[in-house]
Amino acid sequence: MIKNEIKKIYNLKIKEYIKHNKHYYEKSTPIITDAQFDKLKKEIVSLEKKYYFLKSKNSPNLNVGYKPTKSFEKYEHKVPMLSLANAFNKDDLINFEKKIFNYLNKNFKINYSVEPKIDGISASLTYINKKLVYGVSRGDGKTGEIITENLKTIKDIPLEINNKDFPNNIEIRGEVFIKKKDFLKIKDKFANPRNAASGSLRQKDFRETKKIPLNFIAYTFGYIDKNNHRYQSDFLNDLAKWGFKINRDNKILPNIDELIKFHKNFENKRFDLDYDLDGLVYKINDLNLQNRLGFTSNAPRWAIAHKFSADSAYTKVLNIEIQVGRTGALTPVAKVEPVNIGGVVVSNATLHNEDEIKRKDIRIGDTVTIERAGDVIPHVISVDFSKRRIDSKKFIFPKKCPCGYDTIKEFNKVTKKFDSVRRCPDRGFQCEKIAIEKLKHFISKEALNIDGLGKKVVEKFWDLNLLKKPQDIFFLNYDKIIELEGWGEQSVKNLKNSIENSKKVSLQRFIYSLGIRHIGIENAKLISDNMKNITSFIDLIKSKQFDTFLNIDGIGETQIKSLKNFFSNKSNTNIVIELSSLLKIESQILNGNGILKGKSFMFTGKLNGISRAEAKSLVEKNSGSTLSNVSKNLDYLVVGEKATKKKVEQAKSLGIEIISQEELKKLLN
Ligand code: IVH
Repeated sequence: MIKNEIKKIYNLKIKEYIKHNKHYYEKSTPIITDAQFDKLKKEIVSLEKKYYFLKSKNSPNLNVGYKPTKSFEKYEHKVPMLSLANAFNKDDLINFEKKIFNYLNKNFKINYSVEPKIDGISASLTYINKKLVYGVSRGDGKTGEIITENLKTIKDIPLEINNKDFPNNIEIRGEVFIKKKDFLKIKDKFANPRNAASGSLRQKDFRETKKIPLNFIAYTFGYIDKNNHRYQSDFLNDLAKWGFKINRDNKILPNIDELIKFHKNFENKRFDLDYDLDGLVYKINDLNLQNRLGFTSNAPRWAIAHKFSADSAYTKVLNIEIQVGRTGALTPVAKVEPVNIGGVVVSNATLHNEDEIKRKDIRIGDTVTIERAGDVIPHVISVDFSKRRIDSKKFIFPKKCPCGYDTIKEFNKVTKKFDSVRRCPDRGFQCEKIAIEKLKHFISKEALNIDGLGKKVVEKFWDLNLLKKPQDIFFLNYDKIIELEGWGEQSVKNLKNSIENSKKVSLQRFIYSLGIRHIGIENAKLISDNMKNITSFIDLIKSKQFDTFLNIDGIGETQIKSLKNFFSNKSNTNIVIELSSLLKIESQILNGNGILKGKSFMFTGKLNGISRAEAKSLVEKNSGSTLSNVSKNLDYLVVGEKATKKKVEQAKSLGIEIISQEELKKLLN
């Protein structure tokens, strides 16, 4: 059979599979028997095994076995379920610890709670008055889905706890997973154990979930009404006492060297364990320190996942393409012959930058080893020179951006070297490649979060001239969209709705959505806290007085240079102005009714035993606000060691109360 015919047969089977999947799992009205459905899946999988060139994102081999039902009720987690930062080596761990000490402004003796990172699906169990009331999936971290009945089928999950110490209101969090030996029995239906757990948990009918032997290991708490624990390890012990399963390989270790040693041993041992794991989690054991350290927008500062080394495979470089990112960076990408690495079919691998290609001498046609670790983009490790064709030529990195502009390499004043990354100078929306990436960023989850307007849709709308700038999103031609393939009344209605909902946005998200280089979600928060509202932000970008941001802890020369560069382009300023009239940009809302509500603070000088970042976060946790300039709006100037005299004098002349760190402590009780 020729290649095209095989592909045709394969695609027809995939189409059939999608149809029956929908009937069975979404509409609950199967039109073929289970045996016929299983046969269809097996046929697809065996075709894929036989012919390496067959690939579909809808393959039963890649997907969760089937698409789960969409009909679960939503649940807002009382405490968000965040992810973990990753470490791959000792340097990453040293860096992690350094950041902690900086934040706490002091070196502590740190003990770590070390826990195997099971590669399953996290779940949150709410117990009220000792009874399991809700079992919820992680969802997007803020809102999950109520899957209580399905979770109740797991024998490791206690439905009721008869222990007098058990809190009255607590969210217990842990991992749902399937053991390797149990997975073997159902391996034809799912790509890997993780997918088996996920698919099984999202069944409409809990009797389906019950058919698959799932396990639950508990490892942390979300909300807790009364926490008497001093250490994470104490909490883990109590979990066991209350009747939860905890990991028998949990450990307490005193320093990075011990962590590395343990990791090395465990990396080999992991293949003998009866569950899949992708690394170890290190958590600061002292819960008081954890509490002080708090969270960044997506992960705790007090924990890190130390990943095991990645899976790798041999393949061939078919082409090298240049991709342009949102900030103009030109990234070379190797298009490779599709290869399965640890259950995922990989056909692209990043080559990082021009210098990396030169250093490794990677050429089109080469046989290379590529590596894939967790959710990190696969990359080329090395070339097998013995397999190189004699007529192969060195890859010449283009000097021009695909948009036609000349690219530049920036000079780094600190390292006194030119950057390895070649960039298309950010001309706002003039470079088509940058513009489209900026649009994708604008609609992304942490920015305006417009459901129904994913990356692919942006590309399609771009090609059809429906969307060229962020403002266009609010004037889409729906008459044209409804005519497009794959669109219908309902999907257009959904899109309209989510665009309408996205109009209400916080100043932080809005600043982040602009996609300014070096202004990620954390820096956007710092700027938004300082600006308070969109009007003052617009005034500032018009006057270009970005140097005032130097007062903000965490914002430095790099960010200011980038802001100046971005707003030196009039069209970027206009986009902000136009968007501000289309959106409802919410000023910073100070949380809650804490003890410092309505009071503003500014810090000067070095504080004792606490960093300025932590002091500010403490004020904010208690509903106060922090300012970075002395003005009549300021209530308190907190003075540390070697305070700036000018600031103290300014405060005195304005009659602002000047207090010490001790006095702030008293205000906080
Ligand atoms: S702590 C905010 N502990 O890893 C703290 N997570 O990348 C996050 N995981 O979604 C959770 N074992 O699914 C924690 N011992 C462990 C864990 C663990 C596995 C998973 C969990 C989480 C993901 C974060």
